[in-house]
Amino acid sequence: MRSYAALCLAFGVQAILANPAPAPAPTPAPSAQQVERAVEERAIERRAATCTFSGSLGYSSASKSKSSCSTIILNALTVPAGKTLDMTDLPDDTTIIFEGETSFAYSEWEGPLFAVSGNNIKVAGEANGGSILNGNGASYWDGEGSNGGKTKPKFFQAHDLTDSLIETLTILNPPVQVFSINGVTNLEVAYVTIDASAGNSEGANTDGFDIGASTGVLIEYATVYNQDDCVAINSGTNITFRNGYCSGGHGLSIGSVGGRDDNTVSGISFTTSTVTESVNGIRIKAIEGDTGTITDVLYDDITLSSISKYGILIEQNYDGGDLHGSPTSGIPITDLTVKNIAGSGAVSSSGYDVVVVCGSGACSSWTWSSVVVTGGKTYASCQNVPSNVACS
Ligand SMILES: *[C@@H]1O[C@H](CO)[C@@H](O)[C@H](O)[C@H]1NC(C)=O
Repeated sequence: MRSYAALCLAFGVQAILANPAPAPAPTPAPSAQQVERAVEERAIERRAATCTFSGSLGYSSASKSKSSCSTIILNALTVPAGKTLDMTDLPDDTTIIFEGETSFAYSEWEGPLFAVSGNNIKVAGEANGGSILNGNGASYWDGEGSNGGKTKPKFFQAHDLTDSLIETLTILNPPVQVFSINGVTNLEVAYVTIDASAGNSEGANTDGFDIGASTGVLIEYATVYNQDDCVAINSGTNITFRNGYCSGGHGLSIGSVGGRDDNTVSGISFTTSTVTESVNGIRIKAIEGDTGTITDVLYDDITLSSISKYGILIEQNYDGGDLHGSPTSGIPITDLTVKNIAGSGAVSSSGYDVVVVCGSGACSSWTWSSVVVTGGKTYASCQNVPSNVACS
């Protein structure tokens, strides 16, 4: 960063070179523009700082100083009850690094516990994976999730991010839903672990990643232990989930789709991932009676094991519960590819292997190959199934 004096000097030298006369030209007074630029450079220099905020005092200074630091280190912060650790509207190119364990004090409220927005933002944990955001879930879990009981704060709001990265974080004991990804353009989430396994008896609706109204989301190397969808895509385009591991929840889901401002889902791929100890493996839910589009969707190289209800469930009669009432055709599911699904013996004997319930003419152009999902029962009420698909 050049100082103001250096700026004047540089200008002076240039002036000398441009003028071969023996007498050196007097150093010109800096123009208003030059002064302004020097002031701007000083401001950039000031923002170039790395700021570290720690412990219980760090919370309020972190929120106040977020726009004046280009790297913000949040070291073992204690976030007070009922407060969002608010990193929204960051200046471009800000990096946030979580160190140690961040804890969020108990309060019955909606959350979010943490929120971030901006352009070219990086949110990272320590490279050794030691950064934990602890949501204190056991104090909230009452078996009712977001449908009753205590009001539980949502965890991680990643809205309105552009060209950004979230990596190497562990989210421990979320009260309820974890990542809300909405209104983003090009966000990568890598090496994130969500661990709600301590809530296996009383935790509920601990969705891993809820994605809506976004363009360009890549989630890779995620590990999710939870009690609801591992991933749920409600709307958006160009969204990839790959090299993921999902345990304890409701599987890799699209939907429910319908009834929102944005009801278009396209360009989705779930690849090279494992779903185990879960209610469903793969699920696409279109809400009965609503309109929208689900198109250009790929599930490839998915390994299923210990699935209790549905290996693969594709339904156009979702109404808050699975397979209720008559399927409708307002949200067609087209250009769907399901291939290389390894689920031999994966489904419990009381569950169903593959269930497809479509409205008339509403499921077309499906590719279905090397889908081996067995162990469960055959569903007797499949409807309007594309001819190359085995509903078994
Ligand atoms: C799709 O999303 C990824 C991840 O954000 C991005 O890198 C890529 O450029 C996007 N592709 C298109 C065609 O927009």
